[in-house]
Amino acid sequence: MTVTVHPVSPAIGAEIRGVDISKPIDAASFAVIHKAWLDHSVLLFRGQNLDPDQQRAFVSLFGTIGVRSAALPHKRPRAFEGPDYNADAMLVSNVRKDGKPIGVLPDGEMWFHHDMCYSNTPNRASFLYSIEIPSHGGDTHFASMSAAYERLPEALKARIEGKRVLQAFDEVQDARLDLANIPLEEVKHAWQPIVIRHPETGRKALYVNRLMSHRIEGLSEAESDALLEELYAYGEDPAVRYEHVWKVGDLVMWDNLCSMHARTDFPKDQRRMMRRFTISGGPVVAAWEAAQAG
Ligand code: SIN
Repeated sequence: MTVTVHPVSPAIGAEIRGVDISKPIDAASFAVIHKAWLDHSVLLFRGQNLDPDQQRAFVSLFGTIGVRSAALPHKRPRAFEGPDYNADAMLVSNVRKDGKPIGVLPDGEMWFHHDMCYSNTPNRASFLYSIEIPSHGGDTHFASMSAAYERLPEALKARIEGKRVLQAFDEVQDARLDLANIPLEEVKHAWQPIVIRHPETGRKALYVNRLMSHRIEGLSEAESDALLEELYAYGEDPAVRYEHVWKVGDLVMWDNLCSMHARTDFPKDQRRMMRRFTISGGPVVAAWEAAQAG
């Protein structure tokens, strides 16, 4: 069977057809998938049947399997168990055992974010596989932050050139942390460039998001919030988005550097279970540093 690539929106995302990713993938097919990955940032494989080892094997074709972001000392460890468990995997699930979620990011809406942008070495990519889905909602929206950057007016690009932004996160999914009342050292955080250069394509991308971006350096809180809002208008614009409605058996992989994603709300009384692996990444490179390096 021939592997084919079908864009799912003008700015981001493609569906890959003609491949069973639970099985070894020949070099020619992988080359098509890898090129599509660089071209489209988000790839969708429908109708897959993956156990944790098969998912892990597919993910490892793209790099070193990422380790889960370690919980800060004041956070309780979570119990993962059952047939969908794998030590390197993260269950994204609202399913509860003894009243406690068996996974992370359990319920409801999640604002736009880049996975682990609050780390100095964020994971390069995430691979989410759907095992159980609600009857409606729980969709995942992806936005091309390369397209968003390219749509910025030159004057706005000039205002953010060379600037860094404070990224921080601590489990709250649909509100920014109140850093006026939470000591920074108690949450995962990192100062990151506002515009990054993609390590493989060289394309620039905006690196801010509504959930985890807190403060642009050198600006007052009010100035920073206003500028972030201006940038979100470009990042969250439907013109740069693909809105994925899940089916059981979908594997969606996304580039964490040049895309951000959000989740829509879904009924609390319905089960949603996804299994996520990641591949690790290095420090984020600022667009201007890469340009200086030549
Ligand atoms: C995530 O941000 O990794 C979770 C996305 C989702 O649950 O759809």
